Amino acid sequence: ARTAAVIPAAGRGVRLGPGAPKALRTLNGTPMLIHAVRAMAASRHVSLVVVVAPSDGETEVKSLLDEYEHALPERTEFLVVPGGDTRQESVKLGLDALPEDITAVLVHDAARPLVPVDTVDAVVEAVRGGAVAVVPALPLSDTVKQVEPRKDGAPELVVATPERALLRAVQTPQGFDRALLVHAHETVPGTEEGATDCAGMVERLGRPVVVVPGHEEAFKVTRPLDLVLAEAVLARRRA
Ligand code: CTP
Ligand code: MG
Repeated sequence: ARTAAVIPAAGRGVRLGPGAPKALRTLNGTPMLIHAVRAMAASRHVSLVVVVAPSDGETEVKSLLDEYEHALPERTEFLVVPGGDTRQESVKLGLDALPEDITAVLVHDAARPLVPVDTVDAVVEAVRGGAVAVVPALPLSDTVKQVEPRKDGAPELVVATPERALLRAVQTPQGFDRALLVHAHETVPGTEEGATDCAGMVERLGRPVVVVPGHEEAFKVTRPLDLVLAEAVLARRRA
């Protein structure tokens, strides 16, 4: 029984603005992807990390991993595969690369470079304890409104306000029984955009998804302000 982490890192990072693919942008001098890889490899439970690289960036990612080899634990094995057009496709390509003996899988966004190892371990432990799908999540601070799809020119209209106390913002790594996640990817149809998280696919199969506490530092680097926050968190860690 071995646990692997699949890191989808093939996105362009459109919301972050022009520049290199998001995972290759640096935080305090180190590529975001390397921070994310280290965060996964930091867990003693994770023996293999599969990086799903931008489709034109496989070679670059391989040489980055070589360059940072000294900063990564020796016990961890690494694989790099090219990604697809959606996150869902990229995750599928990562799953396809897993060796037979992997029984549990973490899927972790390269765009969440600062997740603490305790959060990673909590997810792995829940999976090893028998949960088939596990998500780290936090309560929301904003109130969330559901809106009606906008008809051209008309103002957006609110249709509902779900009870905030029952809402969770879901992070990664999400943890799964390997066979179940593979089955989900084989049977749940992909939409044009693809699923934005893996647990949603498991939910569609009617299987239970367990929540464990997430962490503020597991936030996703999505927009330019998130880069400012990420670099401040790193600076605080070093202080
Ligand atoms: N991802 C991927 N393959 C894709 C799209 C996304 O591997 N075709 C990965 C991203 O690299 C990221 C994670 O999925 O690590 C979460 O996606 P997101 O934050 O949306 O990143 P991007 O899709 O790159 O950003 P944007 O949506 O702003 O373009
Ligand atoms: Mg995206």
